[in-house]
Amino acid sequence: MNELTPQPGIMDIALYQGGAAHVKGVENVIKLSSNENPFGPSPKAIDAVRDSAADLHRYPSTDHGPLRAAIGVQHGLDPDRIICGVGSDEVLQFVVQCYAGVGDEVIYTEHGFSMYPILARAAGAIPVQVPERDRMVDVDAILSACTDRTRVVFLTNPGNPTSTMIPEAEVMRLASGLPGHVILVVDGAYTEYVDGFDGGASVVDAHDNVIMTRTFSKIYGLGGMRVGWGYAPKVIIDVLNRVRQPFNLSATALAAAEAAVRDQGYVEHCRSENTRLGAWLAEELAKLGVPSDPSNTNFILARFADQAEAEACDAYLQQQGLIVRRVAGYNLPNALRITVGDETACHRVAKAITDFKERHQ
Ligand SMILES: Cc1ncc(COP(=O)(O)O)c(C=O)c1O
Repeated sequence: MNELTPQPGIMDIALYQGGAAHVKGVENVIKLSSNENPFGPSPKAIDAVRDSAADLHRYPSTDHGPLRAAIGVQHGLDPDRIICGVGSDEVLQFVVQCYAGVGDEVIYTEHGFSMYPILARAAGAIPVQVPERDRMVDVDAILSACTDRTRVVFLTNPGNPTSTMIPEAEVMRLASGLPGHVILVVDGAYTEYVDGFDGGASVVDAHDNVIMTRTFSKIYGLGGMRVGWGYAPKVIIDVLNRVRQPFNLSATALAAAEAAVRDQGYVEHCRSENTRLGAWLAEELAKLGVPSDPSNTNFILARFADQAEAEACDAYLQQQGLIVRRVAGYNLPNALRITVGDETACHRVAKAITDFKERHQ
């Protein structure tokens, strides 16, 4: 008999469900289930990956200096207040590992990213879910859920899978209203899809207990490379660096991300194509009686009459080779999250949902 006992909380973790990539027996499949950039990475990032291959016998930089400097230049931030991780997931993990322990509470919102409760449980902490209002984060609900045991609050802005966003003044109000022993994580995985938005950097600058996290997995098209970063007061960065492994990012990943952040022309192209195609798709679906909130991200949360219709539509889309995401696990049983793909993908989705609606009148 196995007498090994996992730490508190570990056995309560439900495995993270990633977006599916294949449909059995269906060819010409388009994956629209993980909010990936349909245009791929910048060609300059691909060149940087190739160039990095010659030095693969060398360990990578431990302090990520060149990447942090490039991020600092692009965003006007102090590189000494930036930490890089294996995806922003790793930065989120550092925060929970450093600031929450057994019996502490970690707040996240009703439709919040599913990694938050996983990370809380991994630390033995208690995930506390707070209601949203019509798919919008409710700052007052978060503030009133705080207790002496609260250590971390997760806010995704813009939200996944809602695609909605609360104004900066509301994020400021949240940060200012939290007790000093609580760290606020402003998760900005989709920041770059909102033209001119700083992702929460100014909220960080105005407080002692706020960290912003960002990723190269979305608009930068580098999900396969696993690079993310965080920006926080120096004292918080110093804490997080204590649990970071020295070689957490590969040389290849560092090279790709640095080249990508320098190529803002490509980012601009991806943002404007996403805005154009996302607006078109949302309008086509609305005409079919499938509404969605105005999207601040690279996906649409399409709302159906009920769970049965959402599931039937998902099944029909799969038959047509279109993989989208069911979000019942995010308390959104009557919705499907559809990544905004390229022109072909968006037209295929609109056509398939038109056909589905005709068959199910
Ligand atoms: C809200 C949110 N935060 C964080 C992440 C993690 O991104 P990554 O670890 O790829 O940087 C995702 C990925 O889907 C996300 O949607």
